[in-house]
Amino acid sequence: MQKLELRIPELPFAVEEAMNRLRVNIKFSGMHTRKIMVASTFPNEGKSTVAFNLWRMMAEAGFPSVLVDADLRKSVFKERHAADQTRDFKGLAYYLSGQAEYEDVVYATNVENGYVVPIAEILENPSNLLEDARFKELLNRLAEDYRFVIIDSPPIDSVSDGSLIAARCDGAILVIRAGETPKSQIRESLQQIQRVGCPLIGTVLNRVETRSASYGRYGRYGSYYKYGYGYGYGREK
Ligand SMILES: Nc1ncnc2c1ncn2[C@@H]1O[C@H](COP(=O)(O)OP(=O)(O)OP(=O)(O)O)[C@@H](O)[C@H]1O
Ligand SMILES: [Mg+2]
Repeated sequence: MQKLELRIPELPFAVEEAMNRLRVNIKFSGMHTRKIMVASTFPNEGKSTVAFNLWRMMAEAGFPSVLVDADLRKSVFKERHAADQTRDFKGLAYYLSGQAEYEDVVYATNVENGYVVPIAEILENPSNLLEDARFKELLNRLAEDYRFVIIDSPPIDSVSDGSLIAARCDGAILVIRAGETPKSQIRESLQQIQRVGCPLIGTVLNRVETRSASYGRYGRYGSYYKYGYGYGYGREK
């Protein structure tokens, strides 16, 4: 297995706490909750941040975990996390289009127990690839090989990619940007996720304005974990 050296940004305390609570609740959501999608209604709500840090914490807690970057249209993984920006690697799009195999796209990392399926190439219309049986096979095989499969996704509002991903997952975490996302839109996103049989595991209210002294790297913004509703095991994927 090849290895990818990752840059790991530090998180301020408030965000770390929210992630920790989320992590604990996922552990108690049952052995069948393995493929977990991190979703949001709109761009920029904090999906990739939550997905990366949740994955890292799960791995550091001793659970073999793999982070799948499924934001094929707009991935930020390479620029944000690749320690060597010049390194050429193959990722999800190569696998889905049949140009690479499972072994070629799952990488070990400098996070112990942490593995990734990255994206190195951006696609304009990936919907048909996400609908393809290869995507389902990949997630199912990952769920056999690793305890948690954390899937970073595109926003739900824009195209159908989000629903396609939800249909393949055992549960979803909805990231909500505090004070920005209208309730009606949140409700619509929840319906879209649940309509395809993906139960909600939890919600993260991100970028809550905090007045605490520990501003850290994200300035005065923190993040809270809140219980979602809809615990359950979903249907067979
Ligand atoms: N709690 C927070 N406080 C302040 N900034 C944050 C917080 N969470 C994320 N950010 C920043 O907001 C930006 C968007 O976050 P991120 O990339 O995680 O969102 P996203 O939902 O994945 O976006 P996209 O829809 O484009 O994929 C990033 O620059 C990130 O560093
Ligand atoms: Mg993102």
